[in-house]
Amino acid sequence: MIELQKVTKRHGDLLAVDGVSLRVEPGELLVLLGGSGSGKTTTLKMINRLIEPTSGRILLDGRDVAETPPHALRRSIGYVFQQIGLFPHLTIAENIAITPSLLGWAPARIRARVDALLDLVELDPAAIRDRRPDELSGGQAQRVGVARALAAEPKVMLLDEPFGALDPLTRDRLQRSFLRIRRQLGLTAIFVTHDMIEAILLGDRIAVMGRGRLLQVGTARELARAPVDDEVAQLLSTPQRQARRVEALLGGEGGEGGDDGDDGDHSDDGAAGDTDVSPGEAPGETSKETP
Ligand SMILES: Nc1ncnc2c1ncn2[C@@H]1O[C@H](COP(=O)(O)OP(=O)(O)OP(=O)(O)O)[C@@H](O)[C@H]1O
Ligand SMILES: [Mg+2]
Repeated sequence: MIELQKVTKRHGDLLAVDGVSLRVEPGELLVLLGGSGSGKTTTLKMINRLIEPTSGRILLDGRDVAETPPHALRRSIGYVFQQIGLFPHLTIAENIAITPSLLGWAPARIRARVDALLDLVELDPAAIRDRRPDELSGGQAQRVGVARALAAEPKVMLLDEPFGALDPLTRDRLQRSFLRIRRQLGLTAIFVTHDMIEAILLGDRIAVMGRGRLLQVGTARELARAPVDDEVAQLLSTPQRQARRVEALLGGEGGEGGDDGDDGDHSDDGAAGDTDVSPGEAPGETSKETP
């Protein structure tokens, strides 16, 4: 569905993205994980041609994206910007309606879609739709960004840290509704996050980037069981290390906790396996998901 072939982006001497090859299968949610400056945003933006690669090819449904005019490409791909990027002079409803309007949808259909999307991201349409972006909190604006990306029912979504500014409970609920939507729409998606737990809960597979290079791609279990290097190992075992510290601080049972486990706890026991998450499926998902 999405295929990157030796894609490189150079800024002067800096290789922002360095020879990345990657396939995302139809219906798959691939999480792109990596430290600040590792090339995640640059990689996403090359897929919808907000940035042109220095070399390499990107195929969407087998077709080189360089052959599709950028505006047509962007109408077919939902994009959630890391900086949200709402137009300040437009209302929230107008921001969400941008692509449907360009596609010539009837006004009534657009209105219904805007309200349904605001509901979906847990914002009250009546209270929000006529406001301007500067009248929203950061987390509310971020949710409008997600609604806008979904507006024209895209088959492909690129999401750059879409839930970064949300409190944990809202984030948890939106992660679940995002999983539900992606199943309903059969979405193929690349989802950038810094949050390892979010990566494990949402991703069918995780691609780890470092210094512009793709370090490893696999399911959370595969990465946890056989990390290519210490950086990936440390990253994958972070949730468990933190869970043990939390347990110890809260005085939980058996709490000899606080062990950071640098002795290689990542490789012995199917670390991520303990979470028992099947691909793309949050545990207990059915319990809380009715909108
Ligand atoms: N227009 C530009 N000119 C020069 N360097 C750039 C430009 N855009 C990005 N870079 C550099 O390319 C590298 C990759 O940037 P990118 O935005 O892709 O990182 P990222 O992985 O998304 O980081 P973060 O997690 O902080 O968002 C960084 O070192 C950045 O400073
Ligand atoms: Mg970024």
